[in-house]
Amino acid sequence: MAEIATLILEIIKCVAPPTQNCVDNHRNFKENAEDLRNKLRILDGRKEDVETRLQDEVCSEKQAKNEVVVWLQDVEKINVEIQDVLKRVHSASYFSRARLGKLAREKINAVDAILQRGSFPEGLVVNKPATTLPLPVENLEGEDSVKEKIWGYLTGNQFQMVGVCGIGGVGKTTIMKHIHNELLKGSRFDKVIWATVSYPLNVVRLQHEIAKAMNEKLPEDDHDEQRQASRLMHLMGKGKYVLILDDVWERFTLECVGIPPPTLQNECKLVITSREVDVCNFLGCKVVKVQPLSKQESLNLFLDKVGREILQIPELEAILNLMVDECAGLPLAIVVIARSMKGVTDVQQWRHALNELRERLRDIAKGSGDEIFERLKFSYDRLQDSNIQNCFLSYSLYPEDYTTTKKDLVEQWIDEGLIEELRSRQAMLDKGQTILNGLKNSCLLEEAYSNDSIKMHDVVRDMALRIKSIGPQFMVKARMGLTEIPDEHEWAENLEKVSLMQNEISDIPPNTCPNCPILTTLMLQGNSKLTKIPDCFFKNMQGLKCLNLSGISIESLPHSICNLENLTTLLLRGCRQLKHVPCLAKLKALKKLDMFEAGIDVVPEGIDMLVNLQYLDLWCPELVELSTQILGNLSHLQHLTVYCRSTTLKIKGEEVRGLKKLETFQAQLYDLQDLNNYVKSNHFKRLSNYQLVLGQVEGNFDLSIHLSKVISLGECEIGGEDSVVLPDDVEDLWIHRCRKFRSLSDIYSPQKTTELRNCSVTECEEIECVVDMVTSSSSFINNLEWLWLDNLPNLSVVVNVEGVEATSPHIFSNLKFFEMWECSTMKRLFSFELLQGLQNLEQIRVWNCQQMEEIIGWEGEEENHTADATTTTTFTLPKLTELTLHNLPELKRICPTRGVIVCDSLGWLAIKECPKLRRIPLVGNVRPSPPAALEEIQIKPKELWESLEWDDPNAKNVLQPSLHFPTY
Ligand SMILES: *[C@@H]1O[C@H](CO)[C@@H](O)[C@H](O)[C@H]1NC(C)=O
Ligand SMILES: *[C@@H]1O[C@H](CO)[C@@H](O)[C@H](O)[C@H]1NC(C)=O
Ligand SMILES: *[C@@H]1O[C@H](CO)[C@@H](O)[C@H](O)[C@H]1NC(C)=O
Ligand SMILES: *[C@@H]1O[C@H](CO)[C@@H](O)[C@H](O)[C@H]1NC(C)=O
Repeated sequence: MAEIATLILEIIKCVAPPTQNCVDNHRNFKENAEDLRNKLRILDGRKEDVETRLQDEVCSEKQAKNEVVVWLQDVEKINVEIQDVLKRVHSASYFSRARLGKLAREKINAVDAILQRGSFPEGLVVNKPATTLPLPVENLEGEDSVKEKIWGYLTGNQFQMVGVCGIGGVGKTTIMKHIHNELLKGSRFDKVIWATVSYPLNVVRLQHEIAKAMNEKLPEDDHDEQRQASRLMHLMGKGKYVLILDDVWERFTLECVGIPPPTLQNECKLVITSREVDVCNFLGCKVVKVQPLSKQESLNLFLDKVGREILQIPELEAILNLMVDECAGLPLAIVVIARSMKGVTDVQQWRHALNELRERLRDIAKGSGDEIFERLKFSYDRLQDSNIQNCFLSYSLYPEDYTTTKKDLVEQWIDEGLIEELRSRQAMLDKGQTILNGLKNSCLLEEAYSNDSIKMHDVVRDMALRIKSIGPQFMVKARMGLTEIPDEHEWAENLEKVSLMQNEISDIPPNTCPNCPILTTLMLQGNSKLTKIPDCFFKNMQGLKCLNLSGISIESLPHSICNLENLTTLLLRGCRQLKHVPCLAKLKALKKLDMFEAGIDVVPEGIDMLVNLQYLDLWCPELVELSTQILGNLSHLQHLTVYCRSTTLKIKGEEVRGLKKLETFQAQLYDLQDLNNYVKSNHFKRLSNYQLVLGQVEGNFDLSIHLSKVISLGECEIGGEDSVVLPDDVEDLWIHRCRKFRSLSDIYSPQKTTELRNCSVTECEEIECVVDMVTSSSSFINNLEWLWLDNLPNLSVVVNVEGVEATSPHIFSNLKFFEMWECSTMKRLFSFELLQGLQNLEQIRVWNCQQMEEIIGWEGEEENHTADATTTTTFTLPKLTELTLHNLPELKRICPTRGVIVCDSLGWLAIKECPKLRRIPLVGNVRPSPPAALEEIQIKPKELWESLEWDDPNAKNVLQPSLHFPTY
């Protein structure tokens, strides 16, 4: 398990921070990738066997043994990780492949070990109840009696199926979430299952969701409802389940989904929540109506949301009460209206708001959907700013119950022109974030799973769509399973925005040419089956501003696009089939052209005429050449990414210097001189992030909005005379296969360079030391936190101080993570002197260094320092949490013979394949006890443990619980 944890850590490190990239090892990687695939097949076969056996053996009293579960999880995890590694061969950064390449090799071993554990001679199952995690849920105000009623039905014998009914926003889901969480605490049911159904009902998706909620899985690639239904039936048939289906709109039968009907005999239960009593009756449910909140409950909830300090204004009390009355006990309305009044303390303003609300509600019939609509709309209207309102409305273009990230949402607002033009892109992103926070505070948008994800309550979305059903309209048919584009007559002339995203539309009939003169936004993204759009399609959409065709499979863009003179945003992300793009010269208004991962091999004609362009992403793997000087006209560019697989696509730094508004820049520069000149021009100081590449980086490189400031040098002639000049704010430095490169000291950096955090040096043949104090003080590495050294066959010391009087005490004083792979001539990792500075070091990992003899040693020979055999030298690494020593056949010592390392934070120690190592001189603050935090020790082979010696004679007993003998 713990090894899996490290593997995951490895992966996270590789995958998560795009800046911590590393270097490749191509040949090995490809071979390893193939081996890995084969291993994976064997493993998957074994997993299927185990799962089949489990299916037969698991029942209401029996569940899989922990070790089996862990094993399956391990298989699952390693599967994901391996898939990730394999997938990234093509798509990920060249540098991250390096790490992944190493990991591929490690994983082959890992798979072997997992296979060994997978035979389970003692059987697979034991008796015990299962568990599910509680759902996050807000406090429940009132509703106690309904809750008790439902609870009674679930625990009694009278009814097997319950339908929780009530108008939208009355709190059905919230009540059920509370019940769900309480059910989890009890043991009445073996499985407590929650699934959201939504509109429209998609049986296959629901089947997957139910399975997932049981921690089970249905085959992804089978779209046959019936087959999936019988699988689900089988899964659910074992043990007592309680199934909660939230937000059901349409009639369906249990059989067609694969839900075994709950009966008195099987003691299973089903609860659905729905706005439609009809649906509940159809299924034969006992209907429980959720009633609005009582006066007191309403008032409490209202005060919670508006802030209780409002009570300090006595004049407000009466108005407040009347206002609460107007909310009709609907929790959602109370929350939203209270929020819209938050911060208002003026009595007149309250009175005015009350009158306004009453006015709207005067003619509303009780029980109609309008009740909630008008109340929500009240707080929508109170947003006042029409920009903010439009941002809010634009969320309804997404499918129901859709979760997105804050970043994507703000990006969409900018793309749609909903955020006013500001001085910089960053300023617009900030503005968007502010609007988003406002909408969240007014409860019109809500946080989804995490801090960073956002969603819209379905009732609120209904309100938004209703607002956009009169006047300039929205047509939203997002993720509804459409296989065809809506009929031409549905494309009304007053359509303002259309979303057909994430459907299965495969074809648009020729000559389809909807007449939508005021259409501004069209979202067709995610229709991955769409291969052709008729040439005339956009002919009568002359007002179009934002067009999203991301992820569709067209080979050519229709000609009618050329005439969209008002188009500001054209998104073609991931259109991998796209080869032909007509001349874009007439799209004078275009501000954003995003062709990330599009299939084109030539730059679209006419780009140089797009003088308003602010955002240009040409990260196109197949792109061959960029005619020079196209940048000349694009003086408004804020974001520029140009990259391809080959190295022919270069940008002249000189041209970029003319772009005064640039904020993000990623490209390969012409040559060393060009890079140096560019840096000296100080243009980079305008940028909030950049990745400047020089030389052969045959793979791609990671792209991200959160990209930092990176310099990548690959297979280029640097070193000696040909010194690289670093920008003084560079954060990441990657050096790969630069033959002549001899040390970081070869790099010229201004004194001010203090931001460098991450550095990787890989496959450089000549490098003998990372830092050469003899030639330069290299102060720019003083703040380095992460250092990765890989495949440096001539490296002999990390820091060369030979002949230098005093070493800088600052060198590496901020280093946290140190990793070394395959430096075959290294004998000593750190000298005693260097170690003095490494007080912030958290992690040391050393892998496969054939001649490594000691981790810490004296400068010079060991003998010179051991004359006085009675003194003990103490080294301290107060923050060290991990020490991994892997395959170091010559390693004899961790530190000099009589030394000890005080490292009380050490939690993880792995010593594998270090046959000559004897003494483990690691102690905690209480000597000679081992470090107090040590909770995972991995030793391989097992026998090695016997021969290891700790200073504390009792250590081996004390450490026994932490000890593991992985086979890989
Ligand atoms: C366009 O579609 C892509 C891919 O689904 C999505 O990431 C992006 O947010 C969309 N942008 C807009 C403006 O719709
Ligand atoms: C929310 O996210 C931000 C960064 O996006 C982070 O700094 C903050 O700690 C997070 N807050 C919580 C409560 O998780
Ligand atoms: C295009 O934009 C211009 C200026 O904003 C406007 O006058 C014109 O009517 C628009 N064209 C169409 C067809 O909407
Ligand atoms: C843009 O540059 C081209 C040369 O590449 C030139 O012919 C054209 O006039 C320029 N357009 C504008 C608007 O400056």
